[in-house]
Amino acid sequence: MSGRARLTALMARGAAFLGSDYAILGGAMSWVSERNLVAAMSNAGCFGVIACGAMTPALLDAEIAGTKALTSKPFGVNLITMHPDLDALIDVCASHAVGHVVLAGGLPPGGAIEKIKGSGARLICFAPALALAKKLIRSGVDALVVEGMEAGGHIGPVSTSVLAQEILPTMASEVPVFVAGGIGRGEAVAGYLEMGAAGVQLGTRFVCATESIAHPNFKKAFIRASARDAVASVQIDPRLPVIPVRALKNASSELFTAKQREVAQLLDEGKIEMGEAQLQIEHYWAGALRRAVIDGDVEHGSLMAGQSVGMVSREEPLADIVATLLEEAAAALERRES
Ligand SMILES: Cc1cc2nc3c(=O)[nH]c(=O)nc-3n(C[C@H](O)[C@H](O)[C@H](O)COP(=O)(O)O)c2cc1C
Repeated sequence: MSGRARLTALMARGAAFLGSDYAILGGAMSWVSERNLVAAMSNAGCFGVIACGAMTPALLDAEIAGTKALTSKPFGVNLITMHPDLDALIDVCASHAVGHVVLAGGLPPGGAIEKIKGSGARLICFAPALALAKKLIRSGVDALVVEGMEAGGHIGPVSTSVLAQEILPTMASEVPVFVAGGIGRGEAVAGYLEMGAAGVQLGTRFVCATESIAHPNFKKAFIRASARDAVASVQIDPRLPVIPVRALKNASSELFTAKQREVAQLLDEGKIEMGEAQLQIEHYWAGALRRAVIDGDVEHGSLMAGQSVGMVSREEPLADIVATLLEEAAAALERRES
């Protein structure tokens, strides 16, 4: 079997689940994964996913309609579980008959799983550990993403390679499992598929696609950066558990420290509850990311990026990035066969 045929065979289950040509999910990236990038991803045979982030239901409604105008291929929507309007956002997805919903940002709240599945959509959730993977599947989740700490954006404490070894041998036979975090080349795609993954999810590698609306300054920062520039944020107050965020180093790290102090003080003074404190931190990130992605303020905005940023070397059409990944994966598999 040729490398290409082997790749197609390894991706068959994931591609069938997604309804795409290739088992490659576009990692939803707030502000970046809007209609243009998502449609380009799906038109290139991958599976684009809209990042709802902090959008209101009305904005999500418009974004889904806008994406549908640009592609007739399937795409999904990523919703953050702690969004205060989660229920209404699920209704918006259902009204558009969105086929796949990805729930991010912690374990889904009661009712959300039933509601999404009741709409006929397939539900994909992040599994940060084996026990949670099992729990999610018991509650009816259709597929899992395991994302390691090499990834850009909010991260857990465990690396992709360890999570893949922990979760794939047990769970890959039960539901499709997609591996994310730190994937920049096709050799790694081939490797995870051979370990039992149904497919992969990439974010950082797609930021500099020509179709991505990210500000030219944001793209330039990615093209210049190497792996070691993508660092995890630091928590300064033990009472305020902050999910670390991986981003390129810049002045915004200090701004984040100041924000944590401010929120911790409000907690101290009893002016806000813990839930509200965490929401304020999340809003801070959404605003900081917008400043960098949309306004191009790469000093004070957040440059969320994964360690694979070192493998982003130029702006190029999304279809070219996908073709490169597929060629690298097929060549790696071909070498193993011979
Ligand atoms: C700029 C940026 C924004 C992101 N925003 C989100 C988000 O809103 N929701 C989410 O579930 N993941 C988000 N992620 C994570 C991606 O969906 C994806 O899982 C991750 O980028 C995969 O790792 P990689 O960057 O190493 O490819 C973001 C990542 C980046 C780089």
